[in-house]
Amino acid sequence: MKNTWSPASWRSLPATQLPEYSDKAELERVQATLRGYAPLVLADQARRLKRALAGVANGYGFLLQGGDCAESFADFSANNIRDTFCILLQMAVVLTFGAACPVVKVGRLAGQFAKPRSQQTEIRDGQELESYRGDIINGSEFDAAARRPKAERMLTAYRQASETLALLRKFAQGGFAGLHQVHRWNLDFVAGSPQSQRYRELADRITDTLEFMAACGLTSETTPQIREIEFFTSHEALLLPYEESLTRMDAESGEWYDGSADMLWIGDRTRQPDGAHVEFARGVNNPIGVKCGPRLAPDELIQLLDILNPDNDPGRVTLITRMGADHVEQELPPLIRRVQHEGRTVIWSCDPMHANTVRSKAGYKTRNFDRILIEVHKFFAAHASEGTHAGGIHIEMTGQNVTECVGGAHAITEERLGDRYHTLCDPRLNASQGLELAFLIAEALKEERSRSTQYQVGSQMFKISSQ
Ligand code: PEP
Ligand code: CO
Repeated sequence: MKNTWSPASWRSLPATQLPEYSDKAELERVQATLRGYAPLVLADQARRLKRALAGVANGYGFLLQGGDCAESFADFSANNIRDTFCILLQMAVVLTFGAACPVVKVGRLAGQFAKPRSQQTEIRDGQELESYRGDIINGSEFDAAARRPKAERMLTAYRQASETLALLRKFAQGGFAGLHQVHRWNLDFVAGSPQSQRYRELADRITDTLEFMAACGLTSETTPQIREIEFFTSHEALLLPYEESLTRMDAESGEWYDGSADMLWIGDRTRQPDGAHVEFARGVNNPIGVKCGPRLAPDELIQLLDILNPDNDPGRVTLITRMGADHVEQELPPLIRRVQHEGRTVIWSCDPMHANTVRSKAGYKTRNFDRILIEVHKFFAAHASEGTHAGGIHIEMTGQNVTECVGGAHAITEERLGDRYHTLCDPRLNASQGLELAFLIAEALKEERSRSTQYQVGSQMFKISSQ
């Protein structure tokens, strides 16, 4: 059975977290419409991302993956997208310049609409309704009509993803993301923070470096890397009817690609090796992420790698570990050791958000920034002691000036969470928290490199054997 994959083969397997659509005819119609639409990303882009990730998997480079927990139809605006993009650019430049490390930039953007939920229903004042599952599935308002899953929403999501992508391409390639603009990416509301000051100093050094390079003949005219960046998109491949409808065979290679994003990931709640989501992911050739929570056993992880990456292709699988600050030391090393022992090549990326969520006294779902930093720090420490490369970070953040995670240099207190708490789902880092995290990671990467026994000549990595 394993060999007969098709975009619809997931349908014969148990699927968790999928909505039940009451109007089947509408669902059919929407899927037929999506099948007739152009893919949002082309196979060639997904292949380029896989090549970039292969470098990271082999120990050179770092994956920066971030964006909204859930994109929303109501908050869609060019300014919001630009601001989130700005923070990602700032974080990327801190890592690239601060740690002298190439950074692969992937947004949780242009398709991050579907949410897995721990509770399938929500009760308020004695009324029980289906949980909000992301704008692509139902509405967040607490009323029966809004919470009913509606297939039509997939078409709105497709259109919004398409417009978001068009904007991101303009930002990435239209001059805005050029290194000469590093000062422009500093958002006004971060201006007074210590991170902002630190960032300005780094930006000044970059500007000096660019002047030096120009004097040597390397300018934005001669060197495209100075004037533009490559920016990729990703989301959780949760809503399989949507993903299936955007999956196309690439004429050139004869391989299947999910045209909804460059990279897709499988959530911690839907990664059952014999389940529908893993079945879908195994047949598409996009880079695949797998969320690894504290309940994932080493055996099951190898089983997943056997299914998703039987050829051990570097760049194909990113393991996004999300253990919780208190569990990393115990849960992560056994996974690393087993993967090493089996000779698998993966990217290890850290999601310090999803296992550090708590409720504030006033009932806000929040995350303590200190716990986030501790998980990142312990992630780096675990890889340092196992001799593996800490290859990426996966975060929920926004360019809006929100107060959703407590702590950080601006010291958001529990009492101030309500000031600007806008998320429909999980609490996100704001700009200054994102920057603070980037500076910490840059330090950790520098330290990793100082211990490293690897060196690069041209595009090739060499390892010095310890024997
Ligand atoms: C997410 O990344 O939004 C998410 C729900 O993560 P996880 O599957 O790790 O809980
Ligand atoms: Co989330």
